[in-house]
Amino acid sequence: MQKNWTQTRTPVFNREAALKMNEIAKTVFAPIYPAIAQNAQLATGINRGLCLDLGSGPGMLAMAMASTVPDLSVVAVDSSEESNAIAQENIRSAGLEDRVKTAKGDVHGLPFPDDHANLIVSRGSMFFWADLLDAFKEIYRVLAPGGHTYIGGGFGSAALKDRVVAEMLKRDPSWDCYAKKKSDADDLKRFEETFAAIGCSTFRIINDETGFWIVLSKPERAE
Ligand SMILES: C[S@@+](CC[C@H](N)C(=O)[O-])C[C@H]1O[C@@H](n2cnc3c(N)ncnc32)[C@H](O)[C@@H]1O
Repeated sequence: MQKNWTQTRTPVFNREAALKMNEIAKTVFAPIYPAIAQNAQLATGINRGLCLDLGSGPGMLAMAMASTVPDLSVVAVDSSEESNAIAQENIRSAGLEDRVKTAKGDVHGLPFPDDHANLIVSRGSMFFWADLLDAFKEIYRVLAPGGHTYIGGGFGSAALKDRVVAEMLKRDPSWDCYAKKKSDADDLKRFEETFAAIGCSTFRIINDETGFWIVLSKPERAE
């Protein structure tokens, strides 16, 4: 059985792909990151502590999280050395080195202790993970009690999506966007089964004009 049923094609993450993502993130995609950061803050209510951005690529969402939520420190995590190097340079250029760090890590085996991060965000990466059950098990392990995730994909609003998709299709008519793949009832059921299997009983799936986002919540520790 396919362990990531959201995948539409086999991903390649090399230097060329990392540079391409950096260019897109700084131009066509640039306005989406502050919108997504604001949506993540509103959806989760987290306004302090540690935030991880998983599959952060050039680090734009990580930086937007730090700018949007002043009491948050952020780690941009990616399995690709090239992406990490690019993110580091972007963070340095933005003067955010004190607030945003980078780490090499794979979502299937995160280099963090249990109950570590108050907020775990991720955009446009989940669709490439090899095994969603293993990845979400690991994410839930690292999430701190009282913490939430905001993981998925999208462009922040309907207007931003229209703008970005139009521009991307102008650049490349064959542009393959996961946003084209609508999540159907079967997909949603598989997510629900996945969250039940990792022991997470409080979750919300947002599937609207802001994108497709998974908010997992870990209960506070009992006193
Ligand atoms: C399409 S890019 C999105 C980058 C960024 N989140 C953004 O929206 O600008 C996907 C990123 O996910 C990373 N990635 C893919 N599989 C991963 C995994 N298993 N663990 C960590 N990062 C992963 C890739 O290296 C790549 O940088």
